[in-house]
Amino acid sequence: MGLEDVLDSHRVVVCVGSGGVGKTTTAAALAMHAAMRGKRVLCLTIDPARRLANSLGLAEMTTDEQVVPAPLFEEKGLVLEGHLSAMMLDTKRTFDDLVRRYASNPEVAERILKNKVYRYMSGSLAGTQEYMAMEKLHSVRQDKSWDLIVLDTPPTSNALDFLDAPERMANLVDSPAMRWFIEAFEGSGKFSFNLVGKGAAFLLRGLSRFTGTGFLEVVAEFITDFNDLFGGFRQRAIQVSDDLRSPEVAFVIVTSPNPLAMDEAIFFAERLREASMNRDAFVINGVRPLFAEPSAPPEALVAAVAPHLPDDVDPKRAVGRMRRALDDARTRAIADRVQADRLRQRAGDGLLYVEVPHFEQDVYDLTALADVARYLTGEATVPTVIA
Ligand SMILES: Nc1ncnc2c1ncn2[C@@H]1O[C@H](COP(=O)(O)OP(=O)(O)O)[C@@H](O)[C@H]1O
Ligand SMILES: [Mg+2]
Repeated sequence: MGLEDVLDSHRVVVCVGSGGVGKTTTAAALAMHAAMRGKRVLCLTIDPARRLANSLGLAEMTTDEQVVPAPLFEEKGLVLEGHLSAMMLDTKRTFDDLVRRYASNPEVAERILKNKVYRYMSGSLAGTQEYMAMEKLHSVRQDKSWDLIVLDTPPTSNALDFLDAPERMANLVDSPAMRWFIEAFEGSGKFSFNLVGKGAAFLLRGLSRFTGTGFLEVVAEFITDFNDLFGGFRQRAIQVSDDLRSPEVAFVIVTSPNPLAMDEAIFFAERLREASMNRDAFVINGVRPLFAEPSAPPEALVAAVAPHLPDDVDPKRAVGRMRRALDDARTRAIADRVQADRLRQRAGDGLLYVEVPHFEQDVYDLTALADVARYLTGEATVPTVIA
């Protein structure tokens, strides 16, 4: 059984997992598959490799919805019955939209957007990217013209950042440090050293010597204006977080067979459960094939390869080298099986496990994505042993 049912019974599929395991690839393959089967699909992607972006028609790297042109499918001999659009998430722009929406008036919004601290923070604050991915999902979900939205998630080293992001965002706007700044700034419109403790004033004076006098004002102005958004923002973060618990939303945990990625996948599944979110499936991506032990005896192999070798290569040594390479490959493949079994044991029955083989080449064009999709949907399975 594959992910076909998950695609059919949810309107949102979120692909999560640690960095580099194949989230973007999985998201693109699932979106493409559902579109080929007749759905109207939006793939919200975060960091597609350039070649993947190109093959999805995102060549210009814009952040608006882009229709993946039907002829791209035809060229590859693929039939597109539905519709596929892809959109690259732009953290900063999503954040800007949010500021415009929740500022009490346009002047405040403009002041925030122009503020240096905001400009810095909106691009680089930890968790911002995760939160904005959720935020974007929240807003595109309102658009009923999509049958399915597939969300790729940021390339964080820690998949958990994703879950905590909405809450962290809500807490940030409500933190003692923020309030402290506001109190010191309020009223005079200038930063008042009298209102903060002596130690802090000393520290801040030192700081402003290095950063120029305007710096603290810039920070304080930002925080005060940003305070204006608190109510709306906090509520929004809670809403976004609740959103993820909807039965309409499926989580697909993507992992590689690497033990560390597996540990994180197991941990992440546990966190989803604790947070009462759905855990619908695991994708174990990049499983290496297990080749069988050669059935022929070594002498027969030597005799078989000898005629194909140049004169200066000793067939016995060549077979020896092939043997060692095969042993290495088998060891790695067996290690992958052990990891896959460990995942099943730890995460338990009742969840769906799907394996995608390791391909010789990077997965970046529609043909390769369609191939990945065949494994994701269970149409193809990784063979246990290749004879
Ligand atoms: N099954 C696979 N076999 C071979 N290469 C793969 C496979 N899955 C993904 N890749 C390649 O690995 C790289 C990382 O994949 P990506 O989907 O971008 O990971 P993530 O989004 O989790 O960081 C990409 O270059 C992709 O083409
Ligand atoms: Mg990615």
